[in-house]
Amino acid sequence: MKLCLCLLSLLLLVTFTVASSANVSYDGRSLIIDAQRKLLISASIHYPRSVPAMWPGLVQTAKEGGVDVIETYVFWNGHELSPGNYYFGGRFDLVKFAQTVQQAGMYLILRIGPFVAAEWNFGGVPVWLHYVPGTVFRTYNQPFMYHMQKFTTYIVNLMKQEKLFASQGGPIILAQIENEYGYYENFYKEDGKKYALWAAKMAVSQNTGVPWIMCQQWDAPDPVIDTCNSFYCDQFTPTSPNRPKIWTENWPGWFKTFGGRDPHRPAEDVAFSVARFFQKGGSVHNYYMYHGGTNFGRTAGGPFITTSYDYDAPVDEYGLPRLPKWGHLKELHRAIKLCEHVLLNGKSVNISLGPSVEADVYTDSSGACAAFISNVDDKNDKTVEFRNASFHLPAWSVSILPDCKNVVFNTAKVTSQTSVVAMVPESLQQSDKVVNSFKWDIVKEKPGIWGKADFVKNGFVDLINTTKDTTDYLWHTTSIFVSENEEFLKKGNKPVLLIESTGHALHAFVNQEYEGTGSGNGTHAPFTFKNPISLRAGKNEIALLCLTVGLQTAGPFYDFVGAGLTSVKIKGLNNGTIDLSSYAWTYKIGVQGEYLRLYQGNGLNNVNWTSTSEPPKMQPLTWYKAIVDAPPGDEPVGLDMLHMGKGLAWLNGEEIGRYWPRKSEFKSEDCVKECDYRGKFNPDKCDTGCGEPTQRWYHVPRSWFKPSGNILVLFEEKGGDPEKIKFVRRKVSGACALVAEDYPSVALVSQGEDKIQSNKNIPFARLACPGNTRISAVKFASFGSPSGTCGSYLKGDCHDPNSSTIVEKACLNKNDCVIKLTEENFKSNLCPGLSRKLAVEAVCS
Ligand SMILES: *[C@@H]1O[C@H](CO)[C@@H](O)[C@H](O)[C@H]1NC(C)=O
Ligand SMILES: *[C@@H]1O[C@H](CO)[C@@H](O)[C@H](O)[C@H]1NC(C)=O
Ligand SMILES: *[C@@H]1O[C@H](CO)[C@@H](O)[C@H](O)[C@H]1NC(C)=O
Ligand SMILES: *[C@@H]1O[C@H](CO)[C@@H](O)[C@H](O)[C@H]1NC(C)=O
Ligand SMILES: *[C@@H]1O[C@H](CO)[C@@H](O)[C@H](O)[C@H]1NC(C)=O
Ligand SMILES: *[C@@H]1O[C@H](CO)[C@@H](O)[C@H](O)[C@H]1NC(C)=O
Ligand SMILES: *[C@@H]1O[C@H](CO)[C@@H](O)[C@H](O)[C@H]1NC(C)=O
Ligand SMILES: *[C@@H]1O[C@H](CO)[C@@H](O)[C@H](O)[C@H]1NC(C)=O
Repeated sequence: MKLCLCLLSLLLLVTFTVASSANVSYDGRSLIIDAQRKLLISASIHYPRSVPAMWPGLVQTAKEGGVDVIETYVFWNGHELSPGNYYFGGRFDLVKFAQTVQQAGMYLILRIGPFVAAEWNFGGVPVWLHYVPGTVFRTYNQPFMYHMQKFTTYIVNLMKQEKLFASQGGPIILAQIENEYGYYENFYKEDGKKYALWAAKMAVSQNTGVPWIMCQQWDAPDPVIDTCNSFYCDQFTPTSPNRPKIWTENWPGWFKTFGGRDPHRPAEDVAFSVARFFQKGGSVHNYYMYHGGTNFGRTAGGPFITTSYDYDAPVDEYGLPRLPKWGHLKELHRAIKLCEHVLLNGKSVNISLGPSVEADVYTDSSGACAAFISNVDDKNDKTVEFRNASFHLPAWSVSILPDCKNVVFNTAKVTSQTSVVAMVPESLQQSDKVVNSFKWDIVKEKPGIWGKADFVKNGFVDLINTTKDTTDYLWHTTSIFVSENEEFLKKGNKPVLLIESTGHALHAFVNQEYEGTGSGNGTHAPFTFKNPISLRAGKNEIALLCLTVGLQTAGPFYDFVGAGLTSVKIKGLNNGTIDLSSYAWTYKIGVQGEYLRLYQGNGLNNVNWTSTSEPPKMQPLTWYKAIVDAPPGDEPVGLDMLHMGKGLAWLNGEEIGRYWPRKSEFKSEDCVKECDYRGKFNPDKCDTGCGEPTQRWYHVPRSWFKPSGNILVLFEEKGGDPEKIKFVRRKVSGACALVAEDYPSVALVSQGEDKIQSNKNIPFARLACPGNTRISAVKFASFGSPSGTCGSYLKGDCHDPNSSTIVEKACLNKNDCVIKLTEENFKSNLCPGLSRKLAVEAVCS
């Protein structure tokens, strides 16, 4: 009994310690948590962009990557479905997400917004608020401020109730109000300024016990901290010297739009930007995004933001570490952390070491010393003298010296392995035979008005005002009469349908036949549609399925940006051009299958599906349903939609999202083969995917699958080949490493050898296969002067013939191996005078 009590009090003590409140304050150098200065590495992971089953793994992957803090927005329109009607289930379980972060022993930055932009539908603000009379978003406007304050208070109270603020023993150390408003404040004149100040005051009055931040908000009033969002923030200084230098968004990649290219930001440049930030006095840094994830359902903003929000982030859309980026940044974090104490508590001087090269040296009274030496020249490597030693700095790089002597990390020297990742197609098993396609049941929708029309109007309406975003779709129909005397009927040349629209897309049908699709591109919504059409003598029905593809996410008065037709004409009739714009148009909101909920629960029984052994190809307006097994294994799953047109997909009623394997119209010269990391990055600098579909694969979270009997439903708008739809598994099939003799080896330090080896840096290559897979073959190994990149390495003139033997001995049949570039392993007298390197490509299986 006594023992029990003892244990109990011990448990209580432990619980108390874990939950004890923390005092978060700040000064001009850093955040101070319980009297300790903190240098924090933070990672944006947005809870609704993955599923709860993925959260612990994602947070753990961040932690293993050397991250201390998770940062997320709060997504108002996912939580307040109608005024006062709140939802916190499933992917929107904010409390569970915060607790997941807490359980991992990490901090949380809660960016309440509640306006967030974030490439998220309508910037996160509920569409219903736009229809509360008199509302103008993001300015000194009573209805907006009323609802914003109400929601902010609701979230703060929810967090308080669950004791999630650091002041209550929880993980939340900072909260954010508004988001990048500084860019737009002036568009709202005096009211903009008043609104920003009101927002700050309103936030502070919430009494959370933790500081508030506003990003890109240069007039943020005390005690609110203004923070930086950019590709580089080393030059940023907060507007008050009493505020620490915080970087809320470092973009390690960029988002995509349907029909756009695939942006990549090289790991070397991301690391460079981060190292420069800490070199120049930064103390909190966040990757936006660290895991981008997926815009499930219709949550993607627009127009045209893809369902994938991969972002080329350190953790890919499917939750796998993206290597080398994730690994390179992990080693960077380790190097920076080795300097933390002297960085935050020491004094600094900066020393010019020549053109474009400077050292920032941090020292304290105990004799500790840490230095960051940067070369910001974007072309030329530099060799400089620092403290009587010589250092070689590649162009556009920073070296980190936690003891002012040894370089443990250089941002341009990537020692991390590169993973070879593939989307591997699944052959399907149906009643013990392998088949190539799902067995589809179908239902076809009739083009045009179904059921009772919603209204008839002369002329056009605004799409968003009409659908209120309850659906992407709005049918417009009208008819024209064609006389038998029309010349085109005799000559056989077709009249042309000419449409102008402010956005976002449409599918045109004439007499029930599909005639074509028009849409804007990039984030440019307006478009013209010009297509020959088949008309016949007599009455012709013109049916236009107009659509939005995600609502505007930001910009001055973005809430008033509309979308829809402005002109519809037919050219090539005897009378010349006929303008149908002011005709009587009949309207219907949504498509019938959505209304019947054919994708979910009992809705599936609202029609009689037709079984097909060979589903029709290129058939527009078709619903497809198949019963599918979960793909074997535990790798993440994607749906290959390469051969489909455009539409929506669901699994077991869960919304996969919009699919649209739209090809980018860019020519190959608009893309890069190899990306030069040197020099300032911009989102178009290192694009791939020219001429390819922007998004071919659609993430279907594993946790949505049952072992068998899963129901996959699609709504296809314009037609495709459903026989080619497949599940694919995202598999790591191999690993590569390329390490040179002059590479630093902070990773060895981080592997437990917790002191810097002052005598000798031993560079090494490390290869690891995921999970319980092993290195089954060494495809390439060369110590000497190999060239090329992972997948296409080539031997150079200088090559140690024992390379493969040595690598195989170290790695074969192992999950993880280290090959040191030592004399015992490789010939020391090989090609003297050359800095030699080791390139390895291994197969994981
Ligand atoms: C929190 O820490 C700051 C700075 O160290 C200090 O000024 C303040 O009094 C502390 N607040 C509480 C409630 O302990
Ligand atoms: C170098 O340090 C001086 C003195 O602390 C400071 O005024 C100056 O802004 C620094 N320069 C740079 C480029 O950081
Ligand atoms: C560099 O060398 C000079 C001359 O030997 C010596 O006086 C100086 O103290 C050295 N500096 C450092 C930082 O070691
Ligand atoms: C996108 O559309 C605009 C306007 O029609 C056009 O100028 C531009 O060239 C298009 N861009 C691409 C990549 O197709
Ligand atoms: C939407 O409707 C509102 C209210 O009727 C109107 O003020 C606004 O101009 C409309 N927006 C567009 C883009 O037509
Ligand atoms: C063409 O013009 C004639 C004469 O103005 C008119 O009667 C007829 O309705 C027009 N046809 C169409 C298709 O508008
Ligand atoms: C499905 O078919 C059955 C038998 O023909 C019929 O009774 C039923 O009404 C149909 N259901 C629907 C939703 O059309
Ligand atoms: C390869 O390794 C073997 C065994 O260690 C050694 O005897 C031989 O000299 C090496 N060959 C070369 C070319 O270095």
